[in-house]
Amino acid sequence: MSQKKLIVVFGATGAQGGGVARAILNDSNSEFSVRAITRDVNSDKAKELAGMGAEVVAADIDDNESLKSALAGAYGAYFVTFYWAHFSPEKEYGEAVSMAHAAKEAALQHVIWSTLEDTRKWVPLDDNRMPTLMGKYKVPHFDAKGEADQVFLDLGVPTTFLRASFYWDNFIYFGAGPKKGPDGKLYLTFPMDDKKMAGVASEDIGKCAYGIFKKGDELVGKTVGVAGEHLSGDEMASLLSKATGKEIIYNNVTPDTYRSFGFPGADDLGNMFQFYRDFEEVCNSVRDVQFSKVLNPELKSFDAWLSENASRIPLD
Ligand SMILES: NC(=O)c1ccc[n+]([C@@H]2O[C@H](COP(=O)([O-])OP(=O)(O)OC[C@H]3O[C@@H](n4cnc5c(N)ncnc54)[C@H](OP(=O)(O)O)[C@@H]3O)[C@@H](O)[C@H]2O)c1
Repeated sequence: MSQKKLIVVFGATGAQGGGVARAILNDSNSEFSVRAITRDVNSDKAKELAGMGAEVVAADIDDNESLKSALAGAYGAYFVTFYWAHFSPEKEYGEAVSMAHAAKEAALQHVIWSTLEDTRKWVPLDDNRMPTLMGKYKVPHFDAKGEADQVFLDLGVPTTFLRASFYWDNFIYFGAGPKKGPDGKLYLTFPMDDKKMAGVASEDIGKCAYGIFKKGDELVGKTVGVAGEHLSGDEMASLLSKATGKEIIYNNVTPDTYRSFGFPGADDLGNMFQFYRDFEEVCNSVRDVQFSKVLNPELKSFDAWLSENASRIPLD
């Protein structure tokens, strides 16, 4: 029987949870073992985790009974929700509440809740510098996560509140990369002016989370942001140009223009970038690169991430 402390990792076949699971499983001396949660234990990614030594268990965060059984016997859990699967902040809030209650019931000793700012604390609903969305949010995919923090606190769940940064992997998978303009040139379009945005290699989020579990009690009750580097649009474009060998120009648009792009979630992301732009210090000070490096000595800069991934960025 393993004497290791069991960490239940949600989203284990995805970016954040996958990084947590791999960080633990790749450390043969780890004090922790992994229960990887997926809805499909037969997927290639699930099998890969099983091959690395994870216990792979089926559960759905929308099914309270499966959530409870997933946590049975565990020391800790990495909780993440999946906003872009449904675009509903109310659903996301409900899932976080279920997770907090299940964690309390299972008497977990350390939970990491992957949250983000409730931006309404800085931009109240009656502040018209950005539109209110869905009736009561400014940045829907942030606000409900941040609102749920209080539930973990109220229930006394020993929680570290992890705030991730913009994944550089979005340039590969999320359509956020450079696009060809009508003049045939490549443009990286953000409404950030000359402000710096915290970014991260998604795999590093999980490695930092592992660092948080290792630190244990010291980080319970704390908010920890993770970032590999803080970069302006010009800096990102210049590093992208160097890494791809193609000229990429930073195209600074207004948040209104970004919101009008029309793809699903453009208004939410327009507000998010505006929040990053207008509250640069608030966002970047919590996403401390030096502390992220303490948690994860392998933390990558954008340049280092590009050296491995630039060829995977579609340039159309
Ligand atoms: N993209 C960014 O720049 C960024 C930055 C900060 C924060 N975030 C936040 O990150 C969150 C998403 O995390 P991620 O990027 O790690 O996700 P992801 O890569 O899309 O992976 C999600 C995984 O979660 C599982 N999943 C989805 N719905 C589930 C459910 N109902 N029950 C159980 N498992 C479920 C899926 O696994 P199975 O199919 O195997 O079940 C999937 O592989 C979002 O809420 C987003 O707001 C993103």
